[in-house]
Amino acid sequence: MYGNDVKEQYNLMSNFYNVLYAEVGVKAYEDEFINQYKEILDELQTSSKVLDSSCGNGVKATALKRKGIDVVGTDISEEMIRLTEEYAENNNLGFPTKKLPWQQLPFHFTEEFDIVFCCGNSISHSLSRTEMLTNIKSLYKVTKKGGKIVIDTRNWDKVLNENIRFNTSNIIEYNDKRYMFTYIWNLNGFNNISNVEILFVEIIDGKETKCIPLKLDFMPFTHNDFILILKECGLKVLKDNFHIESDNYSVILEK
Ligand SMILES: C[S@@+](CC[C@H](N)C(=O)[O-])C[C@H]1O[C@@H](n2cnc3c(N)ncnc32)[C@H](O)[C@@H]1O
Repeated sequence: MYGNDVKEQYNLMSNFYNVLYAEVGVKAYEDEFINQYKEILDELQTSSKVLDSSCGNGVKATALKRKGIDVVGTDISEEMIRLTEEYAENNNLGFPTKKLPWQQLPFHFTEEFDIVFCCGNSISHSLSRTEMLTNIKSLYKVTKKGGKIVIDTRNWDKVLNENIRFNTSNIIEYNDKRYMFTYIWNLNGFNNISNVEILFVEIIDGKETKCIPLKLDFMPFTHNDFILILKECGLKVLKDNFHIESDNYSVILEK
């Protein structure tokens, strides 16, 4: 099965994942997400169903539920599912969740979703071109005819062109603790497995520090090839905000 290593990586990362959201604040992420996809969300009927297929810490699925949308959250990592449930509960909201990799979605759902989201650069965890095709075909299978799939990704054309090795955060306050983290990018060209090592530093009482090393595998791909894959899956590109200078882009697709 695809994704086992990535699943374990996110299980470990889940302890610190919310720290990454703390600088901007979760509510700002919710609002930004809803505003970005307002047009397609406004077209939904009361009977419509939406899937967040890599729901992570649950901020996006919860934002959908807050709008009264019938949402299901799935993710390959049981620990990320736990974060989703925790975030929804802390907001007095609830919706069905299930630990499922993309590949297994068609074994659990029919063509029942009006919109399927795959956001937050999740699709880059497809570790080969073949795996990406299989993953997107699975999203396709659970989407209604005429329904939409939304995928966003880092702009790997820009990342590989700039080839920056290290990024370090500011000091971030989260749950009465202080953290900082450094990303070490180990890039290996397009369509090859690469990884980012993330060194999380927990600052204890302003004196001691604890360093927690984490790693995430991913596969960079060109925008051109990504569009070819989407078309190979039978999807029509309705919107594509790719720009060579922007850090991320998203595509809205129709089945
Ligand atoms: C960077 S996080 C993004 C989470 C969330 N969508 C967001 O926007 O914040 C990537 C998520 O994709 C999930 N993921 C990675 N590979 C997956 C797969 N094969 N099937 C389903 N989820 C996967 C990870 O467990 C993780 O929660």
